[in-house]
Amino acid sequence: MRVVFIGPPGAGKGTQCERLVAYLNIPHLSTGDMLRQGREENNPLALLADQYMSSGQLVPDPIVLQLVGERLERPEYAEGVLFDGFPRTVRQAETLDRTLAERNTPLEVALELQVDDDEISRRLSARGRDDDRAEVIARRLRGYWNQTRPLLDYYRNRGILERVDGAGTPEQVFARIQTAVNKRRNRQPGPSGPPGP
Ligand code: AP5
Ligand code: MG
Repeated sequence: MRVVFIGPPGAGKGTQCERLVAYLNIPHLSTGDMLRQGREENNPLALLADQYMSSGQLVPDPIVLQLVGERLERPEYAEGVLFDGFPRTVRQAETLDRTLAERNTPLEVALELQVDDDEISRRLSARGRDDDRAEVIARRLRGYWNQTRPLLDYYRNRGILERVDGAGTPEQVFARIQTAVNKRRNRQPGPSGPPGP
């Protein structure tokens, strides 16, 4: 199965992806984690991306698309993938769609995790990653509303958008995610047989 996970910074994407990759048995591709790991390894593109990340701006599409394109060549992503924090712009979404169409493996579901701004600020201030400072959080949120939210219409028009309420405990949120994902799995049983758990 191929799933994209969309939601504002701090909505709980990473938290829920940990559960969802185990549940669906597919690999996780978080562009945020990929960029942070690349920075640790002194990858030149990731180092270039760092100035955007630390100020709370989206990294330019060509950098992200190149890194994701390289990553998707790996055989482990052939059977399925859970994209976390990617795509984040319409251009990224269109490029991903083209790549997946060439492989005849389209996205099955786009999950939108909805959490209000006050709760996000609470969650991120409590976490303390280096981009979790108030002014950077505000910029990340603006980027989400301006550049990423248009993707919701994009996926709604494609008929694959599922909205999930991200309030409550991680367990409560995950139960809603399972319901949304299973709705899609039941609609499109794969060639390997009926849907699993
Ligand atoms: P990225 O790493 O994707 O960060 P983000 O979208 O800002 O989201 P976070 O990882 O902060 O939050 P999350 O939704 O994963 O929530 P989490 O589970 O951690 O991106 C970082 C930067 O990289 C971007 O700003 C950009 O510069 C760049 N970038 C990445 N991808 C890009 C792309 N495609 N294009 C361009 N640029 C890109 O939870 C947050 C906190 O809340 C945790 O402490 C957690 O324990 C807690 N929590 C989670 N769920 C709950 C709950 N239900 N109740 C209470 N607390 C909870
Ligand atoms: Mg994350």
